[in-house]
Amino acid sequence: MINLDGVSSFAKGGNRRCYVSPINPKRCLKVLHENLLDKLKENSAWYKRLGKNAGLDDNLRERDAYNQRAISSPINSSVWNHLAKWYGMVETNLGPASETELILNDGEIAETLETYLFREGLTPEIQEALKTFETWLRTHLVLTKNIIPHNVVIKKENGSLILVIIDGLGCKSFIPLPKYSRFFARIYVERRIKLMWSRIHWDLGGRIGDWK
Ligand SMILES: Nc1ncnc2c1ncn2[C@@H]1O[C@H](COP(=O)(O)OP(=O)(O)OP(=O)(O)O)[C@@H](O)[C@H]1O
Ligand SMILES: [Mg+2]
Repeated sequence: MINLDGVSSFAKGGNRRCYVSPINPKRCLKVLHENLLDKLKENSAWYKRLGKNAGLDDNLRERDAYNQRAISSPINSSVWNHLAKWYGMVETNLGPASETELILNDGEIAETLETYLFREGLTPEIQEALKTFETWLRTHLVLTKNIIPHNVVIKKENGSLILVIIDGLGCKSFIPLPKYSRFFARIYVERRIKLMWSRIHWDLGGRIGDWK
C-alpha cells in the first residue's frame, strides 16, 4: 500500500487527482476524487439499476481501454509513440490508483496541449505535431473518446513536440463496432480527428456555442 499523506497532487481533472508516485518519480498515480464513485452512483439511476461500477469508474475504464486490440496486439512498437504507459492499479491510502508513466521534459511535468494552445496558438511546431499524431491514429486505429486538449500533453524530443494521450482512451460508441471491425474503427477514428479539430478551434475561438 502506497501512502500519499503529505504528497501534494500536481494536477486534477473532473474525476481524478494526480500525484507523483513517492516510490518512483517517473510515474503518476491517479486516484478518484473522494466519494466521486458514490455520488455518481447516487445520481445515475441507469447504472444503479444495472448494479455496475465499471462504467463509472475512470480507473477501471482505463484498464479496459489499454486492453484494446490496437494496443494489446499492436502492428509495431510505434503504438507507444503517443501513449503514456500504463502500469496497472495499485493500492494507496486514498483508494485504488491507476499507475501511469509521468510525462516529463527535463524533469518538469509536461504541459497539456490546452495550456500550450492558449499561450502560443497554432504554431507551425504544434501543427506539425498534430499532423504526426493524426497519422499515428490512422495507422494504429487506437480508439479514444473525444480527444480534448487537456487530455493530451506535450513531450519535447530532439527539438520537436510530441503529443501524448494521458487520458481518454477507449471507445465511446454505445454499440462498440469499432472494437471488432477495422472498417468501423477507421470511420470512428476519422470522426475523433474531425472532432479534435472542432474542439481546438472552439477553444481558440473563445469557446462560443457548441464545439461539436
Ligand atoms: N501521465 C501524465 N503525465 C503528465 N501529466 C499528467 C499525466 N496524467 C495526467 N496529467 C495531468 O493531470 C491532469 C488530470 O489528469 P486526468 O486527465 O487523467 O484526470 P481526469 O479527472 O480523468 O480528467 P477529466 O476531467 O478529463 O475526466 C491532466 O489534464 C494533465 O494536466
Ligand atoms: Mg482528463
